[in-house]
Amino acid sequence: MKNVLVINSSISGDNGHSNKLSKAFLAELGGNIKLTEIDLSAEPLPHLEMAELAAWMTPAAERTAEQQQLADFSDKLIEQVRSADVIVFGVPMYNFGIPSQLKSMLDRLARAGITFKYTETGPVGLLADKPVIVLATRGGIYQGTTADSQTPFLTSFFNFIGLTQLHFVYAEGLNMGEEAAQQALTAARQQLGHLSDKVAA
Ligand SMILES: Cc1cc2nc3c(=O)[nH]c(=O)nc-3n(C[C@H](O)[C@H](O)[C@H](O)COP(=O)(O)O)c2cc1C
Repeated sequence: MKNVLVINSSISGDNGHSNKLSKAFLAELGGNIKLTEIDLSAEPLPHLEMAELAAWMTPAAERTAEQQQLADFSDKLIEQVRSADVIVFGVPMYNFGIPSQLKSMLDRLARAGITFKYTETGPVGLLADKPVIVLATRGGIYQGTTADSQTPFLTSFFNFIGLTQLHFVYAEGLNMGEEAAQQALTAARQQLGHLSDKVAA
């Protein structure tokens, strides 16, 4: 049985196309999975601040109760990522970037000595590699252009912490008329059908 971690970040919640695509992917995977779902819009994380970073730097045995509470945000997320066999990210494009809710989460996944380390030859990711599926939903069309800031950013970020099996599924042109939207969503669902066979194997 595969552990599947779904992390959605659409401010539209269940009406968001990325949430709908993550649901469609789960349906393709079938029932034989252990699912953990995180909705970063329903339960947003605060921005990362110095007090939380200081809590990370303090050895667990020496943390105050408040510091432990702060460190728990990141510790829990890293544990969820570690125990997943497959991770699905719902990633709407907001103002040419990823949702700030998702950025707050990613800020807690990059932990020196835990998810990455620097060596003489450069950074090394410390997470065990696993498939990561990015459901990129966009009002316009950017794939392969310099206006697509999300793909290079997420690729760099995930690679940095050791995740290199990345599958980007794009649903673009969602605000460019009903026909264009339906075509994009149908193509994305088809791609997810193929991917589910691949990652379920
Ligand atoms: C605040 C906001 C900002 C947006 N900015 C962009 C943008 O920069 N580029 C774009 O193509 N679409 C943009 N859109 C449209 C969304 O990408 C589109 O509605 C997409 O379906 C959102 O994903 P979701 O349906 O999963 O929430 C924006 C939408 C919102 C609400």
